[in-house]
Amino acid sequence: MNFQNKLFYGDNLLVLRQSIKDETVDLCYIDPPFNSKRNYNQIYNNIGKEDAAQAQAFVDTWTWNTIANEGFEEITNNKNGVFTPQSINLILGLQKVLGKSSLLAYLVSMTQRIAEIYRVLKPTGSFYLHCDPTASHYLKLVCDAIFCTRGGDFRNEIVWSYTRWTNVQAQFQSQHDVILFYSKNKKTIFNEQRIALEVNRKRNLVELVNGKKVSKKDKEGKIIYREQTDTPLSDVWNINRVGNTAKERLGYPTQKPEALLERIIKASSKCNQRFERNYGARKSRNGLFADLISDAKFG
Ligand SMILES: C[S@@+](CC[C@H](N)C(=O)[O-])C[C@H]1O[C@@H](n2cnc3c(N)ncnc32)[C@H](O)[C@@H]1O
Repeated sequence: MNFQNKLFYGDNLLVLRQSIKDETVDLCYIDPPFNSKRNYNQIYNNIGKEDAAQAQAFVDTWTWNTIANEGFEEITNNKNGVFTPQSINLILGLQKVLGKSSLLAYLVSMTQRIAEIYRVLKPTGSFYLHCDPTASHYLKLVCDAIFCTRGGDFRNEIVWSYTRWTNVQAQFQSQHDVILFYSKNKKTIFNEQRIALEVNRKRNLVELVNGKKVSKKDKEGKIIYREQTDTPLSDVWNINRVGNTAKERLGYPTQKPEALLERIIKASSKCNQRFERNYGARKSRNGLFADLISDAKFG
């Protein structure tokens, strides 16, 4: 990447197109608006106290306007040559199903950005798209059309499960988000993450004898056991949301916990060993951040 940790304030589509070269990024995680049809306020100076002041953080209501129409034209005419035939046909097909609607406006905006993300990823690069069941199924189609049609791979649908205050509603409590994980190619950076077992397991050691896996035995012929204390991480992540009094809380609506990002960064990027030795894991990678929110407090 041709810069050191950088925060861009502005539209991420322009940042991608104007500032990031082809095949320079190892890992891209995005946490875009979910098409939740509501707007979000950010709360100032409320850490642990009553909300003192609020201001609009971001808008997540979509309409079919000029920007949406221009995006639609750009995709269907493959203006910048970044869209696959499958992406073009998908958006044309979705227009037949959804019409020129708020949902199609959202999917056009996401298709433009994910196509650029594909361009900037290195051949071994990984992409994580944070969303929720509101639009995850449409977004999976968008990602499949961009990644899986040219050697990319759908890796996981990660379920981020959390608890939150319940309220009376005629449906089950929504307590999970979806994180779609794709790789640009079969060969990708993936560092297995392991998680401690709640109860350690006794495992018999195995060895190969004439090509066959058999239990290893000691001199008296007794099977040798080992204690298993951890296991590879599954695609269901139980991580708490950022609590009201949490140290990392910024008072920003939809703020994601650092523990969630740490897992993604550790799994799908290489750390610079020298940096890690000198400055610790958190400073052992080079990152770029883009948001429309200018408040440095959230930098
Ligand atoms: C779900 S929130 C992200 C929350 C953030 N990940 C966190 O943990 O605090 C969605 C963010 O997308 C930003 N956003 C929306 N449209 C954008 C665009 N076109 N370019 C850059 N950022 C955008 C909003 O300002 C908002 O901060």
